[in-house]
Amino acid sequence: MATILEDISRTFSEYLLIPRLTRANQRPDLVNLSTPLSAVAPNQEPRLKINIPVVSACMQAVSGAELSISLARQGGLSFVFCSQPIEDQVEIVRQVKAHKAGFVRSDSNTTEQTTLGEVIELMRLSGHSTVPVTSDGSPRGELKGLITDQDFWEFEDDLSNMVKQHMTPMKDVIYGEDGISLRDANELLHKHKKDCLPILSKDKRLVALVFKKDYEDHRLYPMELLDASKRLCVGAAINTHDYRERVPAVVEAGADALCFDSSDGFTEYQMEGIKWIRANYGDAVVIGGGNVVSAEGFDYLVENSGVDFVKVGMGGGSICITREQKGIGRGQASALLDVVERREAYFAETGRYIPICSDGGLANDTQIVIALAMGADFVMMGRYFAMTEESPTSKTSINGQMYKPYWGEGTRRAQNWQRYNEGMSSRKMMFEEGVDAYVPLVGTVSEVLETTLYKLRSTMVNVGADSLSDYREQAILTMVSEQSVVEAGTSTVFQFSPNSELDNSNWGNSG
Ligand code: IMP
Repeated sequence: MATILEDISRTFSEYLLIPRLTRANQRPDLVNLSTPLSAVAPNQEPRLKINIPVVSACMQAVSGAELSISLARQGGLSFVFCSQPIEDQVEIVRQVKAHKAGFVRSDSNTTEQTTLGEVIELMRLSGHSTVPVTSDGSPRGELKGLITDQDFWEFEDDLSNMVKQHMTPMKDVIYGEDGISLRDANELLHKHKKDCLPILSKDKRLVALVFKKDYEDHRLYPMELLDASKRLCVGAAINTHDYRERVPAVVEAGADALCFDSSDGFTEYQMEGIKWIRANYGDAVVIGGGNVVSAEGFDYLVENSGVDFVKVGMGGGSICITREQKGIGRGQASALLDVVERREAYFAETGRYIPICSDGGLANDTQIVIALAMGADFVMMGRYFAMTEESPTSKTSINGQMYKPYWGEGTRRAQNWQRYNEGMSSRKMMFEEGVDAYVPLVGTVSEVLETTLYKLRSTMVNVGADSLSDYREQAILTMVSEQSVVEAGTSTVFQFSPNSELDNSNWGNSG
């Protein structure tokens, strides 16, 4: 006969934290949010740590190059989706690794023979006010000059004039030589009172641009997650079908961590995949497994495969319909508590610490705060990041509000790429496990994380914690009654928010 668990499958909103002593020297800005991403052997440091406990989901609508760059600059990590051909994923990983903070590849360029009218249109479309003029209009052409919106008067000048008549010619352009450090490039900008510094190769070809505004920006990102060579960190998702080809390719491209992307990781396929990676790469690669929702699943992966971190969650994702379609899954709070309890026991037995990632179904900032208190070392989110400017989808206006599309990896839309991927074409999709939807645009990654992380820091201080491990140790949680869930919030008063479109404290649905 089937076993029926006595525990109900519970979700995060059923729990609240109890405040504990806050010491006089504790402040939100002093809290340390760094957290391990790799398994920690007894008396050793983790091989990889992230600076904030947040990673972005292995999803097409979430983890592209731009989002990965923005999140790493905030101290988190993206897992670039694997539902795409290997060479496309490699290209995204390469772009993130090649992103030299402060040095940008020029994506709007022109030639001396272009008309003023055309260059004005280019500035309008790209939003850039400085455009390099190169011999062939390409980003690596020989630099002939620079044209900015200060070099002409749109309503006075003849728009059929050539760029050459208005640009700052090379003899007057201040530039840096390829190989210059960011510090020296910024010094040149400062000394010559310039907004933009082109970086040129020995043969005067354009290599990159350095902007004054990026210097100011850079100072805003003290938490940046960098590898030993000062490149931004990025993760790559992998699957159990093609890991023998995909893993070498993404590792070669510079991925700092890998993660199996599967709704059910309690499988022999995944165990074999992780073992294969360990056998071929030893500890040089950080590898996450999952998803599991029980102590039994945790034990299976940890004891048999040498996984670094374990991802928990099934059926909780905002676009997920696995529970409805297949009758399988578990409330995210119950799943997490079961796995964390087992992780603690495993740590007590072996001295080996396995970080846990709570994946999916986080419907608001409070639930992140609760998940971390319950023992998650970091959280993975899809919708949260799909709602930002940097997610790899286009904005759409619906009834005057801006939205972005967001779809599950288990939808036909996401799985369509396999039709073009030899070897997988035989896998026919019988039903979908996710939906294709829209989410409101809420702002940039830095804007949304600023609020979320401030709330987290503030709650950590409320329970007297200086670090995330302290926080887990100190946290006392209570269950709330159904009635208090009903009465929670401020439903009996009217609120007017002057800045409602930037308020992401409730991200739009119940998850
Ligand atoms: P969210 O943060 O609630 O939007 O959930 C994101 C998580 O949902 C991902 O990290 C995956 O674990 C999971 N997920 C992604 N696509 C699907 C799908 O199509 N069906 C079910 N779960 C999905």
